[in-house]
Amino acid sequence: MVENGSIYIADKNVKTRDLVSAFLTYQGYNLTVADGNSSFFDTIHKKNVDIVIADLTYLQIVAPDFKERILDRNPLLVLIGYGEASGSELIKSSSDCIFTLPKPLNLDELESLVMRAREYQAMKLYDRSTGGSAQKKLLSSTMIGSSAPLQTLFEMIIKVAASNATVLIQGESGTGKELAARAIHQLSDRQGKSFVPVNCAAIPDDLLESELFGHVKGSFTGAYANRAGRFEIADRGTLFLDEIGDMKANLQVKLLRVLQNREFEPVGASKSQKVDVRIIAATNKNLEKLVADHDFREDLYYRLSVIPITIPPLRERKEDIPVLIHTFLARFNADKRHSVKGFSRDSLDILCNYEWPGNVRELENLVERLVILKGNGLIVPEDLPEKYLSGKVFCSAPVQTLVPPADDILPEDGICLNSAVEDFENNLIMQALSRSGGNKKEAALLLNLKRTTLIEKLKKKNMTFGGE
Ligand SMILES: Nc1ncnc2c1ncn2[C@@H]1O[C@H](COP(=O)(O)OP(=O)(O)OP(=O)(O)O)[C@@H](O)[C@H]1O
Ligand SMILES: [Mg+2]
Repeated sequence: MVENGSIYIADKNVKTRDLVSAFLTYQGYNLTVADGNSSFFDTIHKKNVDIVIADLTYLQIVAPDFKERILDRNPLLVLIGYGEASGSELIKSSSDCIFTLPKPLNLDELESLVMRAREYQAMKLYDRSTGGSAQKKLLSSTMIGSSAPLQTLFEMIIKVAASNATVLIQGESGTGKELAARAIHQLSDRQGKSFVPVNCAAIPDDLLESELFGHVKGSFTGAYANRAGRFEIADRGTLFLDEIGDMKANLQVKLLRVLQNREFEPVGASKSQKVDVRIIAATNKNLEKLVADHDFREDLYYRLSVIPITIPPLRERKEDIPVLIHTFLARFNADKRHSVKGFSRDSLDILCNYEWPGNVRELENLVERLVILKGNGLIVPEDLPEKYLSGKVFCSAPVQTLVPPADDILPEDGICLNSAVEDFENNLIMQALSRSGGNKKEAALLLNLKRTTLIEKLKKKNMTFGGE
């Protein structure tokens, strides 16, 4: 009995047919095999087939009009033996729904194609289910994923975009906070105006005030001319205050004033300026805890979190992982002119079971790295860095699993933990920069950091590389 979502195999060559069906049955797929007795199309429609794997030559004989009759319906087609028969016109005109594979068959490649076809199908179904909503369509083309938590987030973003309220986006590092902020701006009626991001952690404290509010000529050493701040630049648009949890107390007061009065004073100015700016703030810190510890003003917290949005970590929406991998793979293959075909089922399983402490950014960086290193072919578990294979997560190992290290490296009279950790960190940063020949983007990839975070760290540590 065939259930929903089965695969139909049709090939005149019994050996190939049996090999493919034995292999896919072993991998756990649900199969129907053409037996030559029932009609090709009847079987597809009756058995609720969603993927057809067929030999092109055979198909041209048993169902010459297969293109319209299969592709106008739901099933996707994996054509094997393509290249032996003339089908190039057909492939060009409906390449979105057709996946091709030459003979002799590589079974891993076949399985990877089937998985890709499945992901494509899931995306098609998702598109169809959200077809009524142009906003959802726009969102789902930039924020990838169809899990329930992401759908709830989409609903929230769409509702929030229609209002002018201040939004506070919270979530772990790399979950997509900036992406969500940009989406809110894009869907709002401010989308024709600027979206201005400010990273409150990356700008030195003494410069942040002038960066935000601007300054007048002569107001401090180095202020040679009047300069507009980000508030003014964002007028009638959206100001994105990233890493708001890092803002110092004196600036928190000034920001609160702008939020209350919708006006600000450039540094050194005697008059305040009116501004119409929508504020979206974001942080990966626990702002409520900072408030409880008196490290963040409670009144500002409430002003900012008129609409709080939390982006769920990737480990709580693991069903999004395959489609994210698929999207990143296509993007990096195109960017780098590489042709990595996909991920083997076992490598995909490993990645789906990983906890992703660095969330979507870590996944994106990993796929980029794999595309660069592999170039073509299929990604298999041996291609994955060690930490993904060990089943352990570096950043969030639970305390109870800690065991004393085999080598006792703690000196008799103890150690300064902070400076030892700092030395270790500096060492790793220098190694990454050295391996990347000083290229910060590549070094950041090796460290699983954003390039700007690495630059920020280098600045804070006053570190330079190779006499730069
Ligand atoms: N749902 C998603 N679909 C596609 N790409 C995503 C998604 N979520 C995040 N990304 C990508 O992951 C990377 C990190 O996203 P983003 O910068 O928005 O995260 P963040 O939460 O602001 O991170 P941080 O806390 O480190 O600043 C970006 O390259 C972004 O494009
Ligand atoms: Mg961010």
